[in-house]
This record gives sequence, C-alpha cells and structure tokens, in this order.
Amino acid sequence: MIPVNITESVISFRSSHWDRKLFDELVPLPEGTTYNAYLVKGSEKTALIDTVYPPKTADFISALQQTGIETLDYIISNHGEHDHSGSIPAVLELFPNAKVVTNMKCRRFILDTLPVDKDAFITIKDGSTLSLGDKTLTFLMTPWVHWPDTMITYLEEDRIAFTCDFLGSHFATTDLFAIDEARVEIAAKRYYAEIMMPYRAYSKEALDRLEPLKLDFIAPGHGPVHARPEFITGLYRQWTADECKPTVVIPYLSMYESTATMVTYLVDRLQERGLSVRPINVVDLDSGELAMALVEASTVVFASPTVLSGAHPFVAYAALLANMLAPKTKFAAVVGSFGWEGTLPDVIQAMLPKLNVTFFEPVLARGVPREEAFAELDRLADDIARANFGGAPAAAQEVETA
Ligand code: FEO
Repeated sequence: MIPVNITESVISFRSSHWDRKLFDELVPLPEGTTYNAYLVKGSEKTALIDTVYPPKTADFISALQQTGIETLDYIISNHGEHDHSGSIPAVLELFPNAKVVTNMKCRRFILDTLPVDKDAFITIKDGSTLSLGDKTLTFLMTPWVHWPDTMITYLEEDRIAFTCDFLGSHFATTDLFAIDEARVEIAAKRYYAEIMMPYRAYSKEALDRLEPLKLDFIAPGHGPVHARPEFITGLYRQWTADECKPTVVIPYLSMYESTATMVTYLVDRLQERGLSVRPINVVDLDSGELAMALVEASTVVFASPTVLSGAHPFVAYAALLANMLAPKTKFAAVVGSFGWEGTLPDVIQAMLPKLNVTFFEPVLARGVPREEAFAELDRLADDIARANFGGAPAAAQEVETA
C-alpha cells in the first residue's frame, strides 16, 4: 500500500484486496476490493478518517508510518463495520492519545466488537464540526447507507466528502481516481445493488445531504476516488429514482427442458413487444448479477419446475434474494411446469412480501408445454407490455432480410 496525496493536506491509503472472492461470505467480488482510509493534516491537528480490514492492518500501519506523522489527534469512524473500523485498536496502540470520533450508534458497535476503551471516544451529532486548525471536518448523519450508524465526513476547505460505504465500489485498482468510468460504473452498480438497494429511500436522503456541498472529490471507503463527483451522484440519482426501465428479468432453471422451452418462447414474445429481457439461469447464480439486473427492471418473472410442491431450491434462493434486495420493480409473474401439483405460483408469491409489485396471472404447463401454455405465455407477454407501455406497446425492430 502506498500513501498517495489527493490534495496537499489529504493522503489516501487504499488497501487492495485483489484476490478476495466473497464479502461477508455472501457478496461475490469479481474485481476484488479496496479498503480506503484518509489522513487529513490541519495546521494544528491531524485526523485519520476510517481504517482498513483487520487482515490488512500491518500493511496499513506501515503505510501510515511512511507519512512521517509523529502525532495523531483523531480517528474519525464513519461506520462500525470492521472493514473500516477493524484497525482502530492497532492505530490506538501506535497513537495512544488519539481520540475516536464518531456518533453514538457507531461507538456502540465498536465497543461491542473491538477492544477499544470507552474513554477513547468523542461522540458527535449531526452537523457537529471538528477543527484541525486551518481545516474543519463536518459530520453528516446518513443512517442506513447501509447500517444505522453510517455517516459522511465533509472537509470544507478541500471540498472532499468522505462517504465510507456510500457511493463506493468493490473494485481493486491501482488507479487513485475513477479514470475508467465504464468499469467503475459496473462495479459501483453491483455495489449499489447488493449493499444499498434495500435502503433506496435512505440513499436518496444521503444524496440530498450531499447536494448543497461544494465538492471536488468524493472519497469512498471502497474503490477509486471520484474526482468527478457528478459521475457517481448522477448514477445514484438514476438508480434510486422511482422510475423503472421496460426490462424483464427472468430468473429461471429447467430440469427436463419444459421450463426452458417456456422461457425461450416468452423471451421472444416480450422482445417482439419492445421489451428488454434478461433471462438468468440460476443454477450457478452470481447473486450480484441478479441484483444488478433488478436495479432498474420494471418486471421480474420467476420460472421454475415444481419440486416437492414448491419451487426448485435455486429459484427459491433467487426469489429470497430478490425479496431481501427490495428492488423498485413494479410487476411480477411466475411461470413453470409441474407433474402432479400446481402449487408453484402461490409458493413463490409468498416468498416476495417486500416487493411492491402487481402479479400477473401465472402460466403453468402440466409436463411439456403445448398449445394452451404457449397461448397463455402470449397473454402474459401482452399483460407485461401493456403494463409497461400502456395502450401502445413499442414494437421490436424487425430484422431486415435480403
Ligand atoms: Fe464497507 Fe459496511 O462496510
């Protein structure tokens, strides 16, 4: 890890975890991740903003020592999760007089999970400021992006918002800044989908807190720093807006090709009606792919064979995830096949209480789909098109033939 200046007074420490595959044993990390901390040097005091994941502590402490600082007055903790707070005890060992500055909720999490003395804390509230001499830090409470303790620290003189998880990305890179915006957008969308989407309304509120600030940089706790803040805030505005895109996501799998045949047929009929369609075979589901697909999709159709009176467990897992992630999706349906028990739609619908969706009539085929099932899929495609486009569904472009 190399300390790198963002401005003359602010140094970034970005601990890359290139080969980390999963976060919380749940979230896939195809691009690895970074844990970011920042040092702010004022004319009178010095503050460290967040720390790094405990396995990276030794590297972080070594980088901190490379800066040549002899004293550290404050450790600002924007969030108590250990990928940001986990090295606080080691920093306090190095600088025992430093105070941990945070809100009451974050203080509670740190006391509950880390060996930090309760007398080491200075607790602050929304709007509190901390002077470093010629620099001032302002603390903005932004709860639920994504824990109740999360806050943003704003450095007015350098026009930097330190946003911790909010506006971050799991993207290991040696680039200090988000130069490759196409790649960063994908990583940031995956991050939003998996971490922030369940708290979409709170993400909007956090964006509103940033709106009046003069910003040259957004410095998150993961991924590269944004030297073009409007890039990431614009994406978040779009993702958190109530409007959806006319896109249908179809998590599916098939055991004897009946469900797959229905999905293939439905994809074509939806495409003909001008909808974008994203079928996702969930046999080897990357939960991040499903989460990303749901960020702006208007419609989700779960497609499954019937197994032991319910959904195939892998489709059930996709439904469980979709329910937990609570996307802004507005419409849903269930299609599938069965041998002797047509209970699938009720089982899947009951798994989606957090989705604020209108369910269309399901389509079930007994065994191999035949004429009646295909007619029902035509009807479902009409229902979906009508719901998305009103009375005038857009026609798909026809392929010109010679
Ligand atoms: Fe990056 Fe919620 O921790």
